[in-house]
Amino acid sequence: MDRLDVSANLMIVSDLDLTMVDHADPENLALLRFNTLWEAYYRHNSLLVFSTGRSPTIYGELRKQKPLLTPDITIMSVGTEITYGESMVPDDGWKQCLDHKWNRDIVMEETAKFPELTFQSETEQRPHKVSFYLEKGKAPNVMQALSKCLEKRGLDVKIIYSNGIALDILPQAAGKGQALVFLLEKLKAGGQGPFNTLVCGDSGNDAELFSVPGVYGVLVSNAQEELLRWYAENAKGNRQIIHATERCAAGIMQAIGNFSLGPNVSPRDTRDSMFSRKVLSPSHEVVMFYLLYERWRRGEVENPELYIQNFKSVFHPTGNVAHPSGVDQPMHQIIDSLAKVFGDKQGQDFRVWVDRVSFAEVSLGSWQVKFDKWELCGKESRCCLTKVLMNSKVDAPDEYTWMYLHQTWLEGSGGQDEMYWLL
Ligand code: GLC
Ligand code: MG
Repeated sequence: MDRLDVSANLMIVSDLDLTMVDHADPENLALLRFNTLWEAYYRHNSLLVFSTGRSPTIYGELRKQKPLLTPDITIMSVGTEITYGESMVPDDGWKQCLDHKWNRDIVMEETAKFPELTFQSETEQRPHKVSFYLEKGKAPNVMQALSKCLEKRGLDVKIIYSNGIALDILPQAAGKGQALVFLLEKLKAGGQGPFNTLVCGDSGNDAELFSVPGVYGVLVSNAQEELLRWYAENAKGNRQIIHATERCAAGIMQAIGNFSLGPNVSPRDTRDSMFSRKVLSPSHEVVMFYLLYERWRRGEVENPELYIQNFKSVFHPTGNVAHPSGVDQPMHQIIDSLAKVFGDKQGQDFRVWVDRVSFAEVSLGSWQVKFDKWELCGKESRCCLTKVLMNSKVDAPDEYTWMYLHQTWLEGSGGQDEMYWLL
């Protein structure tokens, strides 16, 4: 079945702040472009791994502030905490690996002797990570002296400087690079892979990622001085690592193309609609539909009359939509509602994206597709857990007819204005 054969089997391991997330882009355009690319072509057969310096607490805060996808695996606190899946099940085996020659109390005692070090917030102090702020000019000397003190006390630690401000002290076995090596071995032992692995970063604590054997790497264009220096000294001749010319998530997509790791043009970057383009899979169909839905409500679609006809060919005449409020509506009624809301979000911050798209063929030519559908309007974002039953057409297997759509609010997402939620 060639229409599902967009097989990528790519594992992306990306830092978050100023790599996946561009804090200088309040509209999150590059991130939304990446999300659309990932859900359309990669989600069903590839792995998305976030590897961040953030603790679970402030990683959770970032997820509320930015339209981040749900990763398959999350590595937090500079490679000291690995968790799996949406429910973030911790890898206890990894924690045990980090106890060797590590003692937090001794780290606290010794660092107290350095007045140059300012303790970071309590949330960022973790079982295998002690973190400070330290001025750039003072960093080399302090790091050297501190390293000697801790060695004398019998510890084997790693001291990492990032963003020209942050100093982390970790067990020697920890760090983003070691965590990735551990993960790759675990996946291999579990029969998963081999993957093409692309690591993505911008600052000091990401340097280790680029030293993991066999990986492709991208330093985003906006990479920090300390990482650029590491690159110049250690990896300049390595053709598997590039310094992108694009910022953040756009740099990641640039690298996918550069190393030919799979599709690299986000559906957001084309003006084609789902009606003028071959649809490759049920997830591609869903991504294209909700992209059209966003453009429809933003009033960015030309010739809306033509589209109404096309909507009729997507939705089955006897199909149904179960609204999250519990009310059932025939699909043709949804088309009438769609016609009324054309351009109603024009000039507003209105974005739609899907997360965690998965699909299964429940009987020949009949697909159940599940995903989280997000809508952002201004500062408010809401999400519905969504299931769609769609049939591929016998005479045109790359076209799907939507038979049934069912939505429930993600906990806490429903509100008084839920009647304005369409589908
Ligand atoms: C994140 C963490 C911080 C750490 C820094 C660099 O900002 O919150 O604790 O020092 O990354 O690794
Ligand atoms: Mg970063």
